[in-house]
Amino acid sequence: MTCAPDATLLARLARLLGPKGFTVDPQALAPWLTDWRGRATGAAAALLSPASTEEVAAIVRLAAAHRVALVPQGGNSSMVAGATPPPDGVALLLSLRRMNAIRSVSADDNVAVAEAGVVLADLHAAAAGIGRRFPLSLAAKGSATIGGLVSTNAGGTQVLRFGTMRSLVLGIEAVLPSGDVFDGLSALRKDNRGYDLRQLLVGAEGTLGIVTAASLRLYPAVGARAVAWVGLATPSDALTLLRRLEATTGEAVESFEILPAEGLALVLRHIPGTRAPLAGDHLWHVLIEATAPAGAADPALALTDALGAAAGDGLIEDAVIAANETQAEALWRLRESMSEAERIDGMAAKHDVSVTVSQMPRFLEEGKAAVEARFPGTRVLAFGHLGDGNVHFNVRAPAGADDRAWFAAEGKAVSSFVHDDVTARGGSLSAEHGIGQFKLADFARTAAPARLAALRAIKGALDPLGIMNPGKLVPPVAPGEASQ
Ligand code: MLT
Ligand code: ZN
Repeated sequence: MTCAPDATLLARLARLLGPKGFTVDPQALAPWLTDWRGRATGAAAALLSPASTEEVAAIVRLAAAHRVALVPQGGNSSMVAGATPPPDGVALLLSLRRMNAIRSVSADDNVAVAEAGVVLADLHAAAAGIGRRFPLSLAAKGSATIGGLVSTNAGGTQVLRFGTMRSLVLGIEAVLPSGDVFDGLSALRKDNRGYDLRQLLVGAEGTLGIVTAASLRLYPAVGARAVAWVGLATPSDALTLLRRLEATTGEAVESFEILPAEGLALVLRHIPGTRAPLAGDHLWHVLIEATAPAGAADPALALTDALGAAAGDGLIEDAVIAANETQAEALWRLRESMSEAERIDGMAAKHDVSVTVSQMPRFLEEGKAAVEARFPGTRVLAFGHLGDGNVHFNVRAPAGADDRAWFAAEGKAVSSFVHDDVTARGGSLSAEHGIGQFKLADFARTAAPARLAALRAIKGALDPLGIMNPGKLVPPVAPGEASQ
């Protein structure tokens, strides 16, 4: 059980952090109390903005001594309200945004060491500065921070080739709930000293400690890229196309993102300056990016050949390959604006689900039909990372309905229905966004007891006072449920 911070603790924190690092000003706090989707608003007694790992450690020691909860936050772009404080107002909001130094970039090691508050786009630029790339990217790259990306095991649009954050984090520095600093930054390629604390912290959503910096794997810079937009009839054709492209272009394909016609229509309606990439209508669309390092053959040649053959076989209906970077960016903008277009369009029940890749085409069709039959009038819009077996399976209110009222009345039932379907297929209700607050109840309901018991045991061992990001990821033991 945590406590509200008293005046003594707040005074100590104010002294420790100075005016740049401590505020109780409601106006300064306000933007950080509501999640990006505007669905959860919390309260916090103060906003703490430490400038160093030592300051974070001092904060955690004080919070532990006073049993006060801390809610770590980076760019506040969580999709599941993972960085939004609880509404009781007794937690302290701990922003890592001032810790935004890139401590080093090494071309020899292929490693960058970035503090938690570094914005993803800035890391991209730093890597480019030494002829390297950090290959994780997503729509929120201008605001998402390294600490949040690590803590949510972020995915994005290049997972197909480079994996999620888990495979890109070589080392971590974190302040543990005791206030001890875990210095695991040395980016050793081989290190078998038992349990992997680094991987435990990746995806922990700040419930096991505060990530303050990470050593991140870099790759050679892209020499050339080819970006294509394809119109086709079914998700099954899309998967066949992906497997063919892999067979003919090797590892060149690094993004393969699927959108239904309604998704593209929403982007064209709401995002200024966008235009349809193909002349005709198609039920499904795929954005493909293939890359090659400097000196290798232009990936556009292989992609053109492969798409030409696919069109000849009737596998795809139409395709265009960007002729230059401006066109490539315009195609990416269509894909990366999907979430923003949905947000503008209105409240939807959003899901971030995965099944095995081979099951995905069937799930897209059967899952949509099942939801629309059970909740008449609703409109499923599923898009995303087909090659990872992960889509954002969003359910919109019936046309003409008051979306907020519909969401309040039906949102939970719709989500439970979708999560049950995915669980029955052996899938996950959280592919890349995490559990946060929004999925906690369904996670508790659908997770195997062994998973929940292990999760709670780890949480209890590392954070016995429960001060780290309470109310996220780890479901509380329900009344009547045997505690383990
Ligand atoms: C995406 O793939 O665009 C993101 O994960 C965002 C979303 O789910 O809306
Ligand atoms: Zn995504």
